Amino acid sequence: MARSSTLLPVAVALLGAVAAAAAAAETPALKSVAPPGLRIGVALGRKHSDGKDPAGLALVARHFNQVTPENVLKWGPVHPEPGRFDFGPADRFVALGERHGMFVVGHVLLWHQQTPAWVFAGTDGGKLDRETALARLRSHIQAVAGRYKGRIGGWDVVNEALEEDGTLRKTPWLEAIGEDYVERAFAFAREADPAAELYYNDYNLWKPAKRDAAIRLVRGLEAKGLRVDGIGEQAHWGVDDPPLADIDAALGAMRAAGLVPHITELDIDVLPRDPDMWGADLSRKQQIRAATNVYPDGLPPAMQEKLARRYADVFRLFLKHGVARVTLWGVTDADSWLHDFPIPGRVNYPLLWDKDGREKPAFDAVLEVLREHGGSRP
Ligand code: XIL
Repeated sequence: MARSSTLLPVAVALLGAVAAAAAAAETPALKSVAPPGLRIGVALGRKHSDGKDPAGLALVARHFNQVTPENVLKWGPVHPEPGRFDFGPADRFVALGERHGMFVVGHVLLWHQQTPAWVFAGTDGGKLDRETALARLRSHIQAVAGRYKGRIGGWDVVNEALEEDGTLRKTPWLEAIGEDYVERAFAFAREADPAAELYYNDYNLWKPAKRDAAIRLVRGLEAKGLRVDGIGEQAHWGVDDPPLADIDAALGAMRAAGLVPHITELDIDVLPRDPDMWGADLSRKQQIRAATNVYPDGLPPAMQEKLARRYADVFRLFLKHGVARVTLWGVTDADSWLHDFPIPGRVNYPLLWDKDGREKPAFDAVLEVLREHGGSRP
């Protein structure tokens, strides 16, 4: 008797877990309600591609048909030293996508971040010269895009080449190579994998000046005979900003220019922003963190609903403009980089599943919008 009474709560808990799992299993998969032509993607961290998060992987397999690696294909992780590549994690990522029949995106061939210092160092301690920079870029792209030729379906070739005012960002790439570095990167990528889709990717393309510059940049590449298959807006957005009208206008302008918009890194930050956040020094960052880490113990219901409405609103625009893809930047809230950006050590809630993998109201809202527009497919 004593034994069965201690087992009872365990049995009840187990039944509860089974019921919850069954309920979740009945939820339609996001990918199955999306309209034809819209891929539903997600960024994977190493815990996913190394097989260390079975619950997260189950969500990925069920809901998504496109994957992007959060870090393992960036220059730093994949090519840490001249001539030394660490392809293990990236190989596992690509194999995971293939196992599930997903469209695999490569991120990213050229960026000024997460790129080792050696890439930008001149020979003999001098300044990096054009020919050395081009040779490094070409051999990197050949090695990385070449390795996954025919397996990675699309590449972010160049990330964040523009300043907010639409001028070219002052990066070591621009400084060493000159203005044609973007064009050269696309040419090298095309050479490495002629069939892969190639994208230009950036953030804040909802800002008219930056958006117009990105469109000009891509049209300029096309005028040189290079094929660009998509323009990616990262979409690291907030609950109130950017205004829907600006997103609407940006996607419309891309379409009007004949370009295919992709939403490449979607997450929605629920924490207050402080204009000083990005440039702040450490002591000021502590103050900002204390003032803006407003939901350390959970997201209040009103904010959950607001986040859900925001997700619904932006997805309606994605459908209106026929974006080719929406990629969420992480699976559950436990995965998000926004706990540490732009201020380290805050608790954020930017995605569709909570940190324990439970569907949030935002998930239901996205599902509903997709269903209204898409309907169910096998
Ligand atoms: C972020 C990753 O999510 C973090 O894990 C990493 O520490 C920094 O980079 N724009 C991009 C992404 O193109 O590669 C960035 O990813 C987020 C901003």
